[in-house]
Amino acid sequence: MGGIGGDSADAETGSGPEARRKRPAAARSRGRRQDRAGGARFARPAFVVSNGRESRTSEDKNEMTERSFEPVAGKSAWKRVDLESDASWRFSLDRAHIDEIEALTGSLRARGKRPPAISRDDFSAPALAALFARVRDEVESGLGVARVSGFPVEGFDLADLETAFWAMGLSMGRPVSQNSAGERIVHVVDRSVPYDQANARGYTTRAELLPHCDAGPDFTGLLCVHPAKSGGESSLASSMAIYNEILSRHRGDLDDLHRGFHHDLRGEGPTASLDELTSHPIPVFSRCQGVLSCSFNTKSIEQANAKMGTDYTATQRAAVDRILDLARDPAFRYDMVFEAGDIQFVNNHTVLHSRGAYEDHDEPERRRRLLRLWIVRPECRPLDPLFADRFNTGPRGGVARRDDLGRSLPGLSAAAT
Ligand SMILES: [Fe+2]
Repeated sequence: MGGIGGDSADAETGSGPEARRKRPAAARSRGRRQDRAGGARFARPAFVVSNGRESRTSEDKNEMTERSFEPVAGKSAWKRVDLESDASWRFSLDRAHIDEIEALTGSLRARGKRPPAISRDDFSAPALAALFARVRDEVESGLGVARVSGFPVEGFDLADLETAFWAMGLSMGRPVSQNSAGERIVHVVDRSVPYDQANARGYTTRAELLPHCDAGPDFTGLLCVHPAKSGGESSLASSMAIYNEILSRHRGDLDDLHRGFHHDLRGEGPTASLDELTSHPIPVFSRCQGVLSCSFNTKSIEQANAKMGTDYTATQRAAVDRILDLARDPAFRYDMVFEAGDIQFVNNHTVLHSRGAYEDHDEPERRRRLLRLWIVRPECRPLDPLFADRFNTGPRGGVARRDDLGRSLPGLSAAAT
């Protein structure tokens, strides 16, 4: 993805005559409601949600969003120097943990148990559970990021790695569906899907991924099985520190950021329509019971804009660019390179992540491969119900499963097939 401009959005999702012809009537009518700056006015009537209930409009949503303007205090609003000087987010596996991993994978394999049909009652790993309880606390209420090193991945086959990572994930919360196939562990590998292809998912490409948070889960977990031949570096930035910066120096941006944006569901929404968008704008910053949370992804915002035939207003573009610029500012950004056996968990409500483009090894068995979990843990923080409904499946509902719909979805991404 080369940028956030309207041209790139058009190129990514198709907004030419063919795309306009296919666009649903509701989307076409929405597309006509534009102000002089070219931005959409999401006036009544509100969008109709897939389950038949009418969504609240953006105006209603604004009323729902708590509008206090307090800076975020505490560890979650970190800058690069804070992560460099604070070791509380770095963990490592010792011999006792590895012994437990070997024991649980062997036992579960012998009993024919595979994710997702493994629960916490199916194995005993007290040292691992204690370690990941600390990891969870740091991700949930500390810096919002944790790195666990020292998993000897080369000694395990892929099936046992999935089992071991699943077991760790169960200590973090509830793994949920990441695509319409209902996959709860996905392999982040390059499947030669062009990232500028409509409805492409970033984890199926080798392209650069701009700073964003994953829409579905409270936490995202990654286990690096093979690093890239070159590139693929990971960068993190605290969206809470970014909020504080905007609050103190660019407060005018917050109107648009509180109002939010529709996001494209990339053909994986409950209606099975390739044009389905979130039924309501998702605020970039939302406060619930005094707790601030962030949701930000320019790719899905711009794809939604293209499908509606709209574009950012000038002030929306400035606000979005501000977040991207701050997330890439060396004062805010923390870079890391994944080594084989590294595990990373991030809190999507407080941390933005990005990835550099990468080059793979020629041998298929050496190509970059990460396992990914999406973890839901409602206890981690309160969320406004609409802010938490990212896939038209209800708060923290994850991606609708194709099986649950009783029909096949057209145009699934490669990852979902
Ligand atoms: Fe992501």
